[in-house]
Amino acid sequence: MDKKIALVTGGVGGIGSAICKRLAQQGHFVVANYGIPGTETRYLEKMAAAGLNGHSTALAFGDVTDYDAIGEMVQGIEKTHGPVDILVNCAGITRDATFRKMTPEQWHLVIETNLTSVFNVTRHVIDGMCERGWGRVVNISSVNGVRGQFGQTNYSAAKAGILGFTKALAQEVIRKGVTVNAISPGYVETEMVAAIRDDVRQQIVAQIPAGRLGLPEEIAESVAYLTSDKSAYITGTNLSINGGLHMYA
Ligand code: CAA
Ligand code: NAP
Repeated sequence: MDKKIALVTGGVGGIGSAICKRLAQQGHFVVANYGIPGTETRYLEKMAAAGLNGHSTALAFGDVTDYDAIGEMVQGIEKTHGPVDILVNCAGITRDATFRKMTPEQWHLVIETNLTSVFNVTRHVIDGMCERGWGRVVNISSVNGVRGQFGQTNYSAAKAGILGFTKALAQEVIRKGVTVNAISPGYVETEMVAAIRDDVRQQIVAQIPAGRLGLPEEIAESVAYLTSDKSAYITGTNLSINGGLHMYA
C-alpha cells in the first residue's frame, strides 16, 4: 500500500499514540493532534522508543472543539506534509456523574469534545478525500455508547452519536472511494480508565469475560486494517473490541 498521510486526533493519548505508532510502522506519515500544550514531549519519547522519528511522524496542535482552529490546523498539515488520506477521530474525555448530579458544563463539554469534534475534523478533510477518490475515516466510539453506562449519560450519548454519524456518512461517500467505520473499545489500559475510582474499576474488570483490560495496541491493530486497501468494502460498520464485555448481533 502507498504511503499515506494520517491524522489522528488525541494522538498523544493512550490509544491515540498506539494508533500513531502502528500506522507509522505500516509506512504512513502520521500527524498526531493534541489539545494541551506540553503533552508533545511524552509522545515524541514514545515514538523515539519505537524507532520512529520526524520522517514518520509530526505533531499538530488544535482544540477539536473549535471548528475554525481545526480548519487552520488541517490547512497547515496539508501545506507542510500533504493531503490527509486517513483520519482517526480519537480525541475524547470523560466527565462522569450520575445524571441527577450532572451539570450542564459536564454535559456540553463531553458532547463537544467527543461528538461535535468528529464533525469539526471530518468536515475539513472529507472533500479532499472524495476528490482524490480514496479515504479512510475511523471513529473511536465505545462499548458504553453501544450499551449505555451508569454515570455516563453524557459520554454514552456522545459515543452513540458517533455510531449514527458513521453510518450516515458512510452511505454518502462510499462511491467516492472513502470508507467510514467505527471501533468500540471496551475498557482499555489508559489514563482514562486509571481515573475511575479504584473500587468501581475493580468491579468493572470483574465483569469482563477476558478477565483483564484491553491494551491500546489491540485497538491500533484494527485501525491499521480498517485504514488499509484490504478493507475497501467495509463501511458503516462498528467493530467491538471489548474482551466479551458486551455482545450483540
Ligand atoms: N448500577 C446500578 N447502581 C449502581 C452502579 C451500577 N453500575 N454503580 C453504582 N450504583 C449505585 C451505588 O450502589 C449507589 O447506590 P446507593 O445510593 O443506594 O448506595 C449509587 O448508585 C451511587 O453510586 P456511587 O457511589 O458510585 O455514586 P458516586 O456519585 O460516588 O459515583 C460515578 C458516580 C462517578 C459515576 C461512579 O459510579 C463511577 O465512576 N462509575 C463508573 C463509570 C464508568 O464506567 N466510567 C468509565 C470511564 S472510562 C471510559 O469511559 C472508557 C470507555 O469508553 C470504556
Ligand atoms: P486519553 O489517554 O485520555 O487520550 C485522550 C486524548 O484526547 C488525549 O490525548 C487528549 O489530548 C485528547 N483530547 C481531549 N480533549 C481534546 C481537545 N479538546 N482537543 C484535542 N485533543 C483532545 O484516553 P484514551 O483512553 O486513549 O482515549 C482515546 C479515545 O478512546 C477517546 O475517544 C475515548 O473516549 C475512547 N475510548 C477509550 C476507552 C478506554 O477504556 N480507555 C474505551 C473506549 C473508548 P490532550 O491531553 O493533549 O488534550
